[in-house]
Amino acid sequence: MKKILLAAITLASLYGFSQKFDLAKTPPMGWNSWNTFACNINEDLIRKTADAMVATGMKDAGYVYINLDDCWHGERDSQGFIHEDAIRFPSGMKALADYVHSKGLKIGIYSDAGSQTCGGKPGSRGHEYQDAITYAYWGIDYLKYDWCSTGELNAAEAYKTMRDAIYAAGRPMVFSICEWGQNKPWTWAKDVGHLWRTTGDIHNCWDCEMGFGTWSKLGVLSILDKQAELRKYAGPGHWNDPDMLEVGNGMSLTEDRAHFSLWCMLAAPLIAGNDIRNMSKETLEILTNKEAIAINQDELGVQCYKMFDRGDFEIYAKPLSHNELALCFLNRGETPYPFEFNWKYYPVFDGISGKSYDFEKTEFNIRDCWQKKDTGTTTVPLKATVQPHDVILLRLSPRK
Ligand code: GLA
Repeated sequence: MKKILLAAITLASLYGFSQKFDLAKTPPMGWNSWNTFACNINEDLIRKTADAMVATGMKDAGYVYINLDDCWHGERDSQGFIHEDAIRFPSGMKALADYVHSKGLKIGIYSDAGSQTCGGKPGSRGHEYQDAITYAYWGIDYLKYDWCSTGELNAAEAYKTMRDAIYAAGRPMVFSICEWGQNKPWTWAKDVGHLWRTTGDIHNCWDCEMGFGTWSKLGVLSILDKQAELRKYAGPGHWNDPDMLEVGNGMSLTEDRAHFSLWCMLAAPLIAGNDIRNMSKETLEILTNKEAIAINQDELGVQCYKMFDRGDFEIYAKPLSHNELALCFLNRGETPYPFEFNWKYYPVFDGISGKSYDFEKTEFNIRDCWQKKDTGTTTVPLKATVQPHDVILLRLSPRK
């Protein structure tokens, strides 16, 4: 009997292991409850969010995961199995997962490597295999795994334990590592998780840092600047995660557009963090801009780099498949930035991906991804103005 059990677990682990490589070949896309709802979540919110994901066209634009963050938890039972909060989730997590699946979507859940989650709920420490089996039984497709109350735990080992527990449970799950970049996960997590947070939590501001004693929340530009050295670690199946989106959560329209464009350029997971049941037309237009999303989801999986820096004016380049290239002209500052960009002086060579673009040798068509129109070619200098806290996002395609 023991042998059969062991063989079953080994087979399940091998199956899980093989799945590692098929999940998240492009950055995961979905929604997460935390940025807007924090601990105020319940099954009605999750069901309605799944409905909205379909009804708004977000699903068609590529969003798949409906992720519950902290505070779905009830207590562990006498055998140590975790249960959902029976008041907030009266139908149970399995029924909720079935509902989300019935919409053609996938469902994610949240736990923590320590004894308690950041919201003070039961963590998975010492219960990793039990929790993974429970999630698999419920039909969970994605696990975000946090780092509160971890004491002296070794991060790489703790995340490997949960990874192995997921493999053993035998259900493919995207594994999202959330230890805020404290233990340099980019150096050890490629074969552990599919994405790893690179910083502390995001805040819905353009350029701010909000201190809370031992930790701080970071605005869009602070997070952007912390990604520069990390691009070489990202690629299909393993992504840097600069945290979830704040689009629709209070920044201006241009800031939201710039934030979204930059996350697309960074090959970041696109996890919406707003109330999608109830969002403005402008917010929806940003979140579902298929041209920006195509840059994010490009199969080459290369994270952008800063190719030009003149104070508040910066240009980011992201090599794409089929010799295409995405460029993002960013104005960090408070006044409009008019510029003239003479392509022939700025060949693009990316040492990381090995991709090069010589505008003297090859002519490219230019597509403006927010204006959604073709705006010319690289044979003449680009003259434009980037508005304050805004971007111009271009896709360049070689002329046949
Ligand atoms: C941490 C994470 C957040 C969120 C909260 C939940 O702060 O970084 O993304 O999951 O915990 O408590």
